[in-house]
Amino acid sequence: MDNLKKPRKHAKKPPKEFKSNNEFFEHVFNDKEMIWMGQNTNHLHETNLIQDAMISCIESKEYCKYPPPEGFSELQKLILKDLDLEDLDILITAGGTESLYLCMYNLLEKKNNAITCDPGYLIIDDFADRFAGEVRAVPIYNEECHYKLTPKLVRENIDENTKVVVLIDPLNPLGSAYTEEEIKEFAEIAIENDIYMIHDITYKDFARSHYSVAKYAPSHAITIYSFSKISGMAGLRIGAIISSSELIASIRPILINDLGTNLVAQAGAITALRSKETWIERIVTTTRNNQKRIKKMIDTIDDIFIVNYPSDGNMLGIDISKTGINPEKLSENLLDKKIFTRQGSYTSNEFGDKYLRVSFSIPEEQVKIFCKEFPIAIEELRE
Ligand SMILES: Cc1ncc(COP(=O)(O)O)c(C=O)c1O
Repeated sequence: MDNLKKPRKHAKKPPKEFKSNNEFFEHVFNDKEMIWMGQNTNHLHETNLIQDAMISCIESKEYCKYPPPEGFSELQKLILKDLDLEDLDILITAGGTESLYLCMYNLLEKKNNAITCDPGYLIIDDFADRFAGEVRAVPIYNEECHYKLTPKLVRENIDENTKVVVLIDPLNPLGSAYTEEEIKEFAEIAIENDIYMIHDITYKDFARSHYSVAKYAPSHAITIYSFSKISGMAGLRIGAIISSSELIASIRPILINDLGTNLVAQAGAITALRSKETWIERIVTTTRNNQKRIKKMIDTIDDIFIVNYPSDGNMLGIDISKTGINPEKLSENLLDKKIFTRQGSYTSNEFGDKYLRVSFSIPEEQVKIFCKEFPIAIEELRE
């Protein structure tokens, strides 16, 4: 058949003995002893609040009905309140991923280009590439730009065909975040050039501080929201898009989930936000302490450093380029030790041979195991 769609540009090949990525993921998923440092997920929720809300939703058997197509209004309001963006409009989606896809589909045409960054979250580039003529992945793996797409870099790369700029804040994989001044300047760039800033704030609650482009440029910002990370709900697939009423109205006709987003996930998300004050501090503190422990261990190893420290996310990059070790071999070695991490090529086309990404919203005991095994893995691979 020659009318099938092209494969995804950045589709990664599965690790050695696996036939497909799906087979690999299922293998890792089913291994109950695996320490989960490969997906920036959060394993630190200790109370059963979110879980109980979902169980009672199931027990009510209300799942035989469809939910409202754009999400329950209570959840919409709670998200807007969480962001202090109550004047904007919102759609509940099956996660940041769906939100990002809808934005790219809605905004980009062949005559346009989109500005992203490398390293970055490559799925975004793939989505943009399906609709735009060009994706400009600006290289940001250097100290000069503080490992992030700066307003200066955006100005250097923008032209009359640019339609969107993607800001991942904090950045997956390096955890770099924006200052208020930078966010204000991005807002100005968006308004001056009449383009959209897609502000992906999936990791915002791990950051020491966070500023919203939408506050400064409400008509030119699209905020991508996720319950996967801070709320620990990755497997439930729930998130949102927040923007002006005009932009949201233009997305409605292209919605895929026209029959609404998973009702059980919405019940969990409502409780996650209602109870956020009771759990957030503990989760963020544990995550930061875990990061400090990792830093202490890394500092004892020659030729290795944390790319951007402290990371404002729940993940960081460990640069191993001076050791000559291939990050893929390192992640395979750690996988054999039952620690799931990600080689750089998962989040970078240009710098993937330089670093390993590890996430650390996991119990302290598991971080201790990582800190014991990582130096051993490095020694084994140096030989
Ligand atoms: C920057 C970024 N955006 C979006 C997502 C996907 O979020 P969700 O699980 O809500 O689809 C991820 C997941 O890792 C991410 O790193």
